[in-house]
Amino acid sequence: MEAISKNFFLYLSNNKVLDRLAKRYGSRFGADKIVGGEEFSQAIPLIEQLNEEGLEVTVDHLGEFVNSESEAKERKQECIETIQSIARNQLNSEVSLKLTSLGMDISEQLVKENMEEILEEAKKYDVTVTIDMEDSSRCQATLDMYKTLKAKYDNLGTVLQSYLYSTEEDLKELLPYDPYLRLVKGAYKESGKVAFTEKQSVDENLKRLIKTNLLNGHYTAVGSHDDAIIDYTKKLAEEHGISRDQFEFQMLYGMRNQMQKDLKDEGYTVRVYLPYGEDWYGYFMRRLAERPANIAFAIKGIFSK
Ligand code: FDA
Repeated sequence: MEAISKNFFLYLSNNKVLDRLAKRYGSRFGADKIVGGEEFSQAIPLIEQLNEEGLEVTVDHLGEFVNSESEAKERKQECIETIQSIARNQLNSEVSLKLTSLGMDISEQLVKENMEEILEEAKKYDVTVTIDMEDSSRCQATLDMYKTLKAKYDNLGTVLQSYLYSTEEDLKELLPYDPYLRLVKGAYKESGKVAFTEKQSVDENLKRLIKTNLLNGHYTAVGSHDDAIIDYTKKLAEEHGISRDQFEFQMLYGMRNQMQKDLKDEGYTVRVYLPYGEDWYGYFMRRLAERPANIAFAIKGIFSK
């Protein structure tokens, strides 16, 4: 049953017609519980509130699969303005972005130029930028871009997904770059040819990745809401004397709020991933696929609008 609903929502997440309808009719189906508004200005008070509570933030301007150069440039400009706004408002926030929103599917040169402009601006204000990882067909290109840019910009992170067979090898190749990595399980629909399909294998691989990155002395963001993964990381750090300033926990906005606060109270760094923007549909559907319990507030949202 769980697998069926997961596949169903992942299928919906790629449905362009529903995406257009969702945007056009603007009904947010409860998405406002997990998305920080359609404009960055709406996200600012939320970030301030999270910062006041001792939580750090990374903001993501929602949107992916841009197909025109002009749209990719608009997305770049939006990222730059977000960085400027973070600095102006003295927010404790990093930025996350997707390379497809900056023209990855159009040309490598375009996405590189857009990223360089963003990273130049981010460097001015000491803002870290993390490249989210998208589906497996774009993984190698994303890692190649990360390596190219990391050689020039230190304020750059990326994401590795433990469901891919190739990730352990990818991590080894990244180690010489002193990577800032968010390690996650992976959120896209992938075939058994490239990805583990058993939850246990995905979880075990995530633990291996966390251990490898931490024991190699690299800063690690553990992106998970899973108690087993969080407990594993805490124990690993204790056993190996890894300082708490070498890692952080990252969770999505609106997910496990109490756990976020508890970890912060225990003295761990917790960063909340706060998405905003008009393109909330694909993000929202992927979250439903991960956790059908989220359907409860979505259904409530449909009837309360
Ligand atoms: P998982 O879904 O495996 O659930 C395990 C257990 O955790 C559940 O059984 C439950 O007990 C608990 N749990 C999980 N969610 C809960 C909730 N909402 N409330 C209560 N309990 C819950 N993916 C990707 O492909 N590319 C990316 O760039 C990113 N980026 C990213 C950033 C951040 C900050 C996070 C947290 C996640 C991502 N992801 C991602 C998504 C990631 O790959 C993964 O799909 C989700 O985090 C779900 O996996 P979990 O490890 O959180 O728990």
